[in-house]
Order: sequence, then structure tokens, then C-alpha cells
Amino acid sequence: MLLSTEKVQLKAIHQISHSLLHQRDVSSLLGEVLDILQNEMKLKRATLTLKREECLVIEASKGLSKNEMKRGRYMIGEGITGKVAQTGKSKVIPDISSDPGFLDRTKARKSGRCAFICVPIAFKGEIIGTLSIDHPSAGKAHLYRMLGFLETIANILADAVATFREEQNEKLLLEQENLRLRRELGNRFKPGNIVGNCGAMQSVYGMIAQVADSTATVLIRGESGTGKELVAKAIHYASLRKDAPFVAVNCAALPENLIESELFGHEKGSFTGASSQRKGRFELANGGTLFLDEIGDVSLPVQVRLLRILQERKFERVGGTEPVSVNVRVIAATSRDLEKFIEGRKFREDLFYRLNVFPIHLPALRERKSDIVTLMDHFLEKYNKTHNRSIKRISTPAINMMTSYHWPGNVRELESCIERAVLMSTNNVISAYDLPPSLQTAQATGTVLGSDRSDADFTTMVRSFEREMIVQALKNSRGNVAAAARSLGTTKRIIHYKISNLNIKPEIYKS
Ligand SMILES: Nc1ncnc2c1ncn2[C@@H]1O[C@H](COP(=O)(O)OP(=O)(O)OP(=O)(O)O)[C@@H](O)[C@H]1O
Ligand SMILES: [Mg+2]
Repeated sequence: MLLSTEKVQLKAIHQISHSLLHQRDVSSLLGEVLDILQNEMKLKRATLTLKREECLVIEASKGLSKNEMKRGRYMIGEGITGKVAQTGKSKVIPDISSDPGFLDRTKARKSGRCAFICVPIAFKGEIIGTLSIDHPSAGKAHLYRMLGFLETIANILADAVATFREEQNEKLLLEQENLRLRRELGNRFKPGNIVGNCGAMQSVYGMIAQVADSTATVLIRGESGTGKELVAKAIHYASLRKDAPFVAVNCAALPENLIESELFGHEKGSFTGASSQRKGRFELANGGTLFLDEIGDVSLPVQVRLLRILQERKFERVGGTEPVSVNVRVIAATSRDLEKFIEGRKFREDLFYRLNVFPIHLPALRERKSDIVTLMDHFLEKYNKTHNRSIKRISTPAINMMTSYHWPGNVRELESCIERAVLMSTNNVISAYDLPPSLQTAQATGTVLGSDRSDADFTTMVRSFEREMIVQALKNSRGNVAAAARSLGTTKRIIHYKISNLNIKPEIYKS
């Protein structure tokens, strides 16, 4: 007959081995194991620490809050956990309240007698972490039986913990590297005429530098007046095509019946008024860059033709039958919510994917409050020159008004606000009353900015950037993850990790 403790232990081992077999995600697996320990053994706490450099950090825990986990950091050799990691020898503390070696760094233990058992987790001769439990006070023999049991669990888990630690380290390195590269690129390649130093703009400069030399199609998104055209030009002038034409087409401004002939040209006599053959913008941009502004506003028939050009780099002039080939780099821009347009069948999904190869999102001005003053100075200098004025400064109330305004028209609105003020000012200072009424009303009604969200936006952009790179690599490799990883110069493991993290489905790129 088995004793009741042994029965419980056997049941826990059985459940843990089941988790090991079925749970593919290591992080969830560790959580499940701690759950089983806590529930089956009726424990207050179960904790797993991992060794990071010369430190042990709590990586998973049951019975500790997030804050308590954060506090639980031990140097190797420090406290019970640090000693176990240093010596590789398990420890039983029958009563933590009377043991000076117990640090309670997490500050989770309030009062009462409680035992603590901690065992090392070793992998290939190296201590990589510890597993510990808070156990209700009990006799020594029982506590040592528990220690043996915990050592068994630590051995079973060692392999999974090692994989988890490796994944965590890789993830950390990758994140640091991503951030460093983006910042470095951003600082080095900031285009001269674009103003702004916030994180989100640095990321934009990094992307401009990264994409300029390729022929990849770029989709620039952002609210009206955020600088989409400026970025499109910066990409063109930083590219190898800089001496070839940059041709811009505002798709929203062209009447429906003219847009096809504008874009693709027409043959003589193809419609009333077509008295001679005429080249379209695609042909005019040959060798250079075609900027399709307000792409969200083109009709469905024109979208079909654009899709074909992007796929085949060939088209026919209106009324023509001979295909014309062009070498054009396409940059598109829109302030529209294309995803919503796709849902409402106003925009073709296949065209969206063709355009969205390398998306660049421009932050709204209210999301980069820290750049407002730099932009004000920039435009003050510009309009002093244009209008031959020598305004020296902007008064503090005027600055306050401008930094607290919500700028629905973004940089364009700020620019015209400064130009207007330069013309209004009579005493070489821009004062609050030189600003347009919209700003004064905003001040009065309290329509002011929320918090600076540029950090959150930066993370979103890094994620979307990563996502697009991986999706593109998967498209090129027809869904083959190993080949995609090779083309990105990284490992299959990292790509697998990213794919699940970013919710990418490689199988849809198979065809
Ligand atoms: N970061 C910036 N630095 C300096 N000037 C800027 C910046 N962003 C925008 N501008 C200026 O603001 C004006 C509007 O920019 P742009 O035309 O590129 O915006 P847009 O996003 O294309 O707007 P829309 O969607 O309304 O066409 C331009 O005069 C541009 O020079
Ligand atoms: Mg524009």
C-alpha cells in the first residue's frame, strides 16, 4: 500500500509527464507544472527562477503577484535560492520565520510557520535555475521526502527549462538588437528636410534608409498632413533612382473618367479628344519612382489595372493593344482605413497585399508632442525667409497654446499656423493672439492633448515591421519557414517564435 503522500506525488508526476508530452509552448508548460504542484500538493507557493548572467530572476510562479515576482532577484550565493544555485545542493528550511538565511525578497510571507524547500535545476552540468516551494510546516522526515520529490521534478523539467532559457535569451538579444539598429539607422539617415526626433520618427528614418535602395513597393500611412509625401520623396532621393523622375499622382484629385488615361496614357483616337498618343504617368516615371497618393480613393476597375501592373510591370495604353513594359518603383500613400475599405469591398485585398510590402506609419502630431517646438522653430525660420521677416521668438503663452492643441491637421496645420503668425506679428515676437482662432477656442474649451504615446507606437511599428519582413520572406519562400529564416539571416527557431507571437500563418503562403 502506498502512503497518501506518495500517492499524491505519483499523481502529480503523472500529470506533469502528461503536460510535458502535450504542451508545446514551454512557457505555458512551466506554468502548468507549477499549477500542478500547487494544487496537488496544496502548497502556498511554487517558484521557478532562471539564471541570467550573475543573477537569479523569478521566471514563473504560483502564489506570487507580479510585483512580488519582480522583487525576487538574487545574486548567485545570496539567500537560500542563491546558495542552492551556487552550490548545486538542495536545501530544506523547516521554519523560515526563524532562519536568518531566508531573505523573503518578494515580501510575500506575512506571518506564521512555514517551511521552504529549494532544489537546483541542472542542465549538462550547469546550474540554470532553481525550483522552490513554500510548504506547510511539517516533520523533518516528511520535508526531506518532499525534497526528493522536488528533485525528481527538477530533473524531469531540466530540458524544457533549458530550452525556455535559450528562447528568452534569444528574444532579449533580438529585441535589443532591433532597437539598436533602428536607432542607429534613424540617427545616421535622417533626411535633412524632415524635422522630428521622437522615437516613432527615428523609426521612420530607419525604415526610409532600409527600404530606399530596394525596389520594394512602399505603403505610407498616416493622417492627413503628417508628411507622407515628404517621406515618399525622401525615399526616392535616398535611392539609386534619385536622378530619374519622381512622378506624383493624386488619385483622389483626378476625375474617374480621366484617371486611366492619366496613369496609363492613351493611343491616338482612343476616345473623343484623344487627338494624339499620350504617355501616362507610369511611362513618365520609367526608371524612377511613381508616387500614388491617396491610393485608397481609386475605383475598383482602376485597382484591377494597378494590380496587374504591380504583378507584371506591364500594361496597355487606353485604346492600345501593345503591352508597354516599365521599370517603376511604386510608393503609395493613404490616410484611409484600408482594412475597413477591404471589409466594405471598396478596396481589393489582393492589391492591398501587393502595396503593403513595406508599410511605413507616420505618427499623428498629437502623438509626438515632443517634436512640436522643433517644428515651430523650423517653420519660423522658413517663413522668416519667405516673407523677409526677422521674428526672433515665440512667446511662452503661444508655445503653451501650440503644445497643448490637438492638431487635427497635423504638421500641415502647424506649418500654416506659423506662416499666418509670421504675417500677423507686428513686433518681432509671435504672441498668443497671432495664432488662429481654432487654437484659442481649443484652449478655452480644454480640447488638449492626451499623454505622449510615442513609445507604444514605436513598439507597434517594430512589430508591424517585423511582421511584414517575415510575411514577405514567407511569400518568397512559398511558406517554407526554414528558407524564410535563411533569407532573413536568422534561425528557424526565432522565426517560429516570431510566427506564433505575431500570429502569422505560414501555410497561407504555400500557393
Ligand atoms: N516631419 C516634418 N518635417 C518638416 N515638415 C513637415 C514634416 N511633416 C510634414 N511636413 C510639412 O507639412 C506639409 C504636409 O506634408 P505632406 O504633404 O507630406 O503631408 P501628407 O501626409 O501627404 O498629407 P495629406 O494626406 O493631406 O496629403 C508639407 O508642407 C510638409 O513639408
Ligand atoms: Mg499628401
